[in-house]
Amino acid sequence: MRVLVTGGCGYIGSHTITDLTSRGHEVAIVDNFSNASPAVLERLASITGVRPISFQADIRDRAALLSIFQEVRPDAVIHFAALKSVGESWEQPLRYFDNNITGTIVLLQVMHECGVRKLVFSSSATVYGMPESCPISEDAPLRVTNPYGRTKLVMEELIGDLCAADESLQAAVLRYFNPVGAHPSGELGESPSGPPANLMPYICQVAAGRREYLNVFGNDYDTADGTGVRDYIHVMDLARAHTDALDALNTCGESFTVNLGTGRGYSVLELVKAFELASGRLIPLRFCPRRAGDVGACYADPSRAAERLGWTAQFDLARMCEDAWRWQCRHPNGI
Ligand SMILES: NC(=O)c1ccc[n+]([C@@H]2O[C@H](COP(=O)([O-])OP(=O)(O)OC[C@H]3O[C@@H](n4cnc5c(N)ncnc54)[C@H](O)[C@@H]3O)[C@@H](O)[C@H]2O)c1
Repeated sequence: MRVLVTGGCGYIGSHTITDLTSRGHEVAIVDNFSNASPAVLERLASITGVRPISFQADIRDRAALLSIFQEVRPDAVIHFAALKSVGESWEQPLRYFDNNITGTIVLLQVMHECGVRKLVFSSSATVYGMPESCPISEDAPLRVTNPYGRTKLVMEELIGDLCAADESLQAAVLRYFNPVGAHPSGELGESPSGPPANLMPYICQVAAGRREYLNVFGNDYDTADGTGVRDYIHVMDLARAHTDALDALNTCGESFTVNLGTGRGYSVLELVKAFELASGRLIPLRFCPRRAGDVGACYADPSRAAERLGWTAQFDLARMCEDAWRWQCRHPNGI
């Protein structure tokens, strides 16, 4: 298939492109580089042997997007482009609504106009808000607790309504749990601008000596060691699920929503221990009070992804840490 990837130079998009290319798909990227570097294109070329076609454009720019669709003529779209920081979404909610929701509406309009009927959409476990119990299945109540999560839920709902109104449109909605790790080459990885909002890149920066210690928010949760438990998933496992989702849309011909996680939760202290083993570095910790809105435990029931996609996560926590650390060592300042 010829696949148009929005946000394809970002963290998850770039890893997905390595999987798509290795499985014979042609890829074109649209990215405005608001949170990515064009250097990713060279890395992709050296990893895959193919330099993807790339367009620097904002998905809210309807005229630009239309001309890209007319040039590329994609069979399907994988839609990663979004702003993704929960904290920032409280500071700038309107910017999040505009970038994520308006951008998605423009993309859906252009897809409609150009007759593109297959969409894979990046959603997030954040749509479950404070889950009542774990593991979380796709049927759990959806109740978001921040503006970023609101944008994901609204986008899911818009896509769901469109698919209900027009059966020829098929969408795979993928709810990611906690993506971590990096490409095994050490040439692609997560490259946050400013202080990392996610745990793994923060740990990497502490291990590399860029930060003094790791703040652990809350050690009085109802979990085995009191620290928060999350379902970490290797970004290459996540990448593979996108190609599998495209295959599933082609073969089953109907829309679906699946969780992407390992089904196993690890606490902050377990992750730190695994990282110390993988890197040989000590991670100094500082315990702080819980953060408002954080939940004690959050991990997936991934059984629907296994049924729908034939997909299960392969990489363990040790491998997630090894790959993240390799990326950090090779590219200490990000890309
Ligand atoms: N990383 C996570 O922890 C996580 C978890 C759950 C869901 N997600 C979702 O997965 C998707 C990808 O996340 P990521 O971690 O790769 O983020 P990222 O920031 O690394 O990648 C997003 C990419 O989209 C681009 N972009 C943003 N707005 C754009 C616009 N208006 N027009 C064109 N390009 C635009 C950015 O430049 C960037 O390259 C996002 O939709 C995110 O919400 C991420």
